[in-house]
Amino acid sequence: MRGRTTQTTEEEGIGGGGVGGNEEERDDDESKTRKISLAMRITNLITYKFGVFWPCSFIIFSFLLLVSSLIFRSRNSVCVSTLDSRSLIGIDGLDSDFGTLGVPWCRSKSGRTVEWTTKDLLKGLEEFVPIYETRPIKNNQYGMGFDHSFGLWFMTRWLKPDLMMESGAFKGHSTWVLRQAMPDTPILSLTPRHPEKYLKKGPAYVDGNCTYFAGKDFVDFGNVDWKSVMKKHGVTDLSRVLIFFDDHQNELKRLKQALKAGFKHLIFEDNYDTGTGDHYSLRQICDQSYIRGGGHSCFQDSDEARIREKRKKFWEKAVDVDELCGPGEAWWGVRGHMRGDFNHTNKAISYKEHFQNSRFVESVLDVYWELPPVAGPSLTHQTRYDPARSVGPVVEDGRFGLFQRLGLSRFDSSVFNGYTQMVYVQISQSSH
Ligand SMILES: C[S@@+](CC[C@H](N)C(=O)[O-])C[C@H]1O[C@@H](n2cnc3c(N)ncnc32)[C@H](O)[C@@H]1O
Repeated sequence: MRGRTTQTTEEEGIGGGGVGGNEEERDDDESKTRKISLAMRITNLITYKFGVFWPCSFIIFSFLLLVSSLIFRSRNSVCVSTLDSRSLIGIDGLDSDFGTLGVPWCRSKSGRTVEWTTKDLLKGLEEFVPIYETRPIKNNQYGMGFDHSFGLWFMTRWLKPDLMMESGAFKGHSTWVLRQAMPDTPILSLTPRHPEKYLKKGPAYVDGNCTYFAGKDFVDFGNVDWKSVMKKHGVTDLSRVLIFFDDHQNELKRLKQALKAGFKHLIFEDNYDTGTGDHYSLRQICDQSYIRGGGHSCFQDSDEARIREKRKKFWEKAVDVDELCGPGEAWWGVRGHMRGDFNHTNKAISYKEHFQNSRFVESVLDVYWELPPVAGPSLTHQTRYDPARSVGPVVEDGRFGLFQRLGLSRFDSSVFNGYTQMVYVQISQSSH
């Protein structure tokens, strides 16, 4: 699958200033020169009148006064923060709050990354917002919200597959998103309950160019006879197929099955953070002490424990070390468990096994890319995911103008509540 190369700058695509910047810069420079020559004249006068000692003492004294006032002010702001919890956690527009608890990631074989940039994502958002407004399932509780719908649409459109396969359709929202990205490309949908069943109770989406393996025809991804299915769809090159998993199964199992079948491009909807979720995710697997941002301290007296305890009060999905760590300080997966199949099959694993899993994943990864959240929480008013464990958003906190211009302010805040680090990976068999 090939990437498009069209790129539009934020100024071109989304709007923004820039006109007349040179004149302003020139004015600024001239006034700086004026200020400098005035300061020099004053310094010369003081040196002439009082010698060198007194002016120097005055400068040192002023500097000390400034430093102590800054320390005093920062102490005060900590006091204010404890009263106003929202500024403590940075919800008032500090995008620097993102990633402060570490953002683990999976190393790839070649260190390659994706072709698209933040500018492409911004341009994509501008296009996707009006599309999302026409979604048939307005309330997709238990399914994808805005962030992941956008991510799936954006990546699918970029990758332009010849065939799209989803595992886990629920009422069909993700099928609809795939269809918006690629209007004429066939879809395969593996899901135990046919989306048409939901139509009796309310909105659902059933696609005309989709082969459903559902109801009595349901087959799990791991049991599909891919050779015959691909033949039936005229696909000879498996690298032209996009696989989308939203079936809440152990992602290590899915990765191995996809690899065995020969697929290359995979998207996992719920790439749960360590200590959360109902299945073992790639992010959990790669959360290792040797990865920057990975690893955990289970000591009650650690900085991590203190920070987590505070953050848990403000973000529904944040976990404290009691929840993160199990017996023997086991923190991998969820409290030392490799969860599978909607949390129905939980297997306790050793640290050694968890470590080996990460080494295996790294050995087959060509690309690992986590979708950033669409916008900072001061804009979206999301209350669930903790920004401290996430990469920075596409639209940073404080950029309300951009958020509004993109049309994102028209959505109910509930659509921004489902972010769980959707991830795109490219895989291939390891050479050894
Ligand atoms: C979170 S929902 C999917 C949401 C959907 N993708 C959306 O866009 O809203 C998870 C779905 O996975 C389905 N499921 C459960 N086990 C599965 C399996 N082994 N293979 C495929 N789907 C499965 C469930 O029935 C459910 O429809």
